[in-house]
Amino acid sequence: MKDTPIPYDVVSKHIQGSGIASVGKASIREIKRLVDNIEKETGMKYIRMEMGVPGIPPARIGTEAQCKALQDGVAAIYPDIDGIPLLKAEISRFVKLFLDIDVPATNCIPTVGSMQGGFACFMTVNRINAKQDTTLFIDPCFPVHKQQCRVLGVKHLGFDVYNYRGEKLREKLESYLSTGNISSILYSNPNNPSWICFTDEELKIIGDLANKYNVVIMEDLAYFGMDFRKDYSKPGQAPYQPTVAKYTDNFILLISSSKAFSYAGERIGMMVISDKLFTTVAPDLKRYYAFDQFGKAMIFGTMYSLSSGTSHSAQYALAAMLKAVNDGQYNFVEAVKEYGEKAHIMKEMFLKNGFKIVYDKDLGDPIADGFYFTVSYPGMSGEELLQTFVYYGISAISLAITGSERTEGVRACVSLVLRQQFPDLEYRLQKFHEHHPLS
Ligand SMILES: Cc1ncc(COP(=O)(O)O)c(C=O)c1O
Repeated sequence: MKDTPIPYDVVSKHIQGSGIASVGKASIREIKRLVDNIEKETGMKYIRMEMGVPGIPPARIGTEAQCKALQDGVAAIYPDIDGIPLLKAEISRFVKLFLDIDVPATNCIPTVGSMQGGFACFMTVNRINAKQDTTLFIDPCFPVHKQQCRVLGVKHLGFDVYNYRGEKLREKLESYLSTGNISSILYSNPNNPSWICFTDEELKIIGDLANKYNVVIMEDLAYFGMDFRKDYSKPGQAPYQPTVAKYTDNFILLISSSKAFSYAGERIGMMVISDKLFTTVAPDLKRYYAFDQFGKAMIFGTMYSLSSGTSHSAQYALAAMLKAVNDGQYNFVEAVKEYGEKAHIMKEMFLKNGFKIVYDKDLGDPIADGFYFTVSYPGMSGEELLQTFVYYGISAISLAITGSERTEGVRACVSLVLRQQFPDLEYRLQKFHEHHPLS
């Protein structure tokens, strides 16, 4: 028993009482609950790095437009399933101005968070063709996406991209696609949890293979514009946020408003479907839907069944935020740069105390500073590290639950850590290092 920053016996009691078999394998929400309980008993604040909650207030333009919409009475009215025209038009403008791609407003659909967009995609794309019934994940990934596949009964495979960057990605992807049963590929870019950012060369490989094997690419842009090494914040001006949509016309983009606009609480995201996919006619869809056209099956089959549309007032909020961004009046990237700056300082603290960055390189370059980073401690598995962290007042999640092969690592999310807590973090890491000396 050591003089750990959080009393050893209190932490042990809570771990035992939580019913969690192993803290190292627990889900994000289980860890959150455990830490909440310890904080409540001890009155001591943890360095909370387990959950990707935005740590920045929502854009006022959004909340004001939403309040106005509510005062105008929209709460009483069902919105159209595929979204209000105002929002659809702004989404279409947004992808033109920030991705430099053309997608008609019809194909731009608000969803109940990007989370619902993912669920709707897994459900629909795996029914286009009876022979293509499996989604391939380019891991590591956001664990809830795989949970969605499991609860839907959708077959899925995945591989850790760490050793398949650049041209090596082609052969690896082709080894899966050539089997003929892959319907779709999902990845996030920037990547949650590793913060890897695919290059245009890699996106072209993915796009080319999507064309060759008729596979739908589901590109998750939850951290849109947040590779702060480049300035993607100027509407209609290069550089643009890199996207697979430049290289294939068989795509769905999932764009979250949770992080870019700090709008997680209102659960609103965007699904942007390429025109080729939207208008695809696939007789196999008729097994589940009244329509054989993909776009109609998605809207009047899947989205109708799931929630019959997205919160009416939140759509006004997102439309107002996008309009301000599209008109160049609000710089959404500037508003979230704080995440990258905090990551830089926090990574230094970890490195100074013997930790290593797990996903450390983006091809030849050091990994960017962003919303997440990954760390390990020599001689410890990720599971041991997480369990031990709890005694030091630090919480994170294991990379093992993200499809990563780097099971020695954990994912740290910077968003909820306040700058005032940096001295605490530094002290706790020093104690950790002192108690676990490296040879
Ligand atoms: C990669 C990724 N995709 C999707 C989501 C979900 O986004 P939303 O809050 O819009 O449902 C998250 C949230 O953390 C994420 O990290």
